[in-house]
Amino acid sequence: MTTTTKSMLVIAPEASVSEAIGKSLSGDKGVRVDTQTSTLAGMNGRAVKALADYDVILFQTSPDDQAELSAIRDLVAHRRSGTKLVALADGNISLTQARALSNAGVDEVLPLPTAAGDVDRQVARLGRQQAGGGTRAGRIIAVAQARGGVGSTTVAVNLADQLAAGAGLRRREARPKVAIVDFDLQFGTIGSFLDLGEQDTLLQLALDGTVPDANFLEQSMVVAENGLSVLAAPSKFAPLDSLRSEQVAAILDTLRETHDYIIVDLPRALVGWIEPIVERADEFLVVTDISVPSIRHCRRLIEFFTQDNPALSVEIVVNHQRRPLFRSRLHREAAKVLDRKLDHWLPHDPRSAAAASDRGKPLSRVAPRSALGKAMTQLARSTRSGHSATAHRSRS
Ligand SMILES: Nc1ncnc2c1ncn2[C@@H]1O[C@H](COP(=O)(O)OP(=O)(O)OP(=O)(O)O)[C@@H](O)[C@H]1O
Ligand SMILES: [Mg+2]
Repeated sequence: MTTTTKSMLVIAPEASVSEAIGKSLSGDKGVRVDTQTSTLAGMNGRAVKALADYDVILFQTSPDDQAELSAIRDLVAHRRSGTKLVALADGNISLTQARALSNAGVDEVLPLPTAAGDVDRQVARLGRQQAGGGTRAGRIIAVAQARGGVGSTTVAVNLADQLAAGAGLRRREARPKVAIVDFDLQFGTIGSFLDLGEQDTLLQLALDGTVPDANFLEQSMVVAENGLSVLAAPSKFAPLDSLRSEQVAAILDTLRETHDYIIVDLPRALVGWIEPIVERADEFLVVTDISVPSIRHCRRLIEFFTQDNPALSVEIVVNHQRRPLFRSRLHREAAKVLDRKLDHWLPHDPRSAAAASDRGKPLSRVAPRSALGKAMTQLARSTRSGHSATAHRSRS
């Protein structure tokens, strides 16, 4: 992998913060770091000028300070290039405060105090995201479940299928290239959801330890309906820890260069190699029901996903329930525990779900007009439009 030179400006009112970050990166020849001891607001427009000179601007800030929020908006309004804006905020920042920063236009929020090793890791990740100018830089959407059997694979498969079919696009617009990866190594069912033959690519990788490249993936992935590329879980048993983080990272980095969307079905267990997925994912969908244990587990998952990036997009998909006209006390309490809206609702529709799994086809083929089929189209549309809004925001 080539290391491109990145330039980074660290703005912090506490010299100790900028110095610590500068020092932790000084050994990395691929990154040039300059520091400024100031608040963002205190830079008085000099930060806007810096937009032209740096790939990443990291600034220590407080989400409750209106002057800081307005300085961030000013920076965002003047952003023309791909300069990434990263806020460093107090580690105890609430999700609501993190969202205020995100709404102001910040790309990422990293919690302070950030240990030196953490900054290295985060910067390496930012570097990866900034690199690859001419490539597709696809969007990685990871699907997690609040309990076994709640419907995460149903969501992952049908979201991928709907995106590949062009949900939310005009008829003449080019269809995106979509890949789906079943990282539920031991219990994965994507292969049977799409009636595909046995595919033991992940098992082969787990056994021989090779790091896959684009050629290998292209040859080993199967193409299903709507041109969807599928990397299925092995049909034979593979020990959960037999995959290495490096391999998982390579799969995602490679697919991101060749596809517009990469949908990942996550394993139930939070194994070590989940870290490269969490680092790379642009968005998490957590599929849940409204029961108290599921909502509690959902909360733990959200905390895990957002621990290094509190502003990461995590959306809740409530399965087996139609969107209610009026929210009950239970719904309001769930939203409160999760500190976010219950964004998406998928009705309980056993007939359509069974028809799809019996025939090994996506809902778009067997029951497109069913309640569940229509809700899946809606989910894909809003995923698309959420993405377009973010992309637009970071370009403008
Ligand atoms: N909205 C729904 N209405 C009715 N049945 C559904 C719905 N969503 C999923 N199902 C059914 O529930 C079962 C479990 O779904 P699925 O395999 O997607 O869950 P999962 O969370 O991936 O489970 P696992 O823990 O095994 O990975 C399947 O038979 C599926 O067809
Ligand atoms: Mg599953």
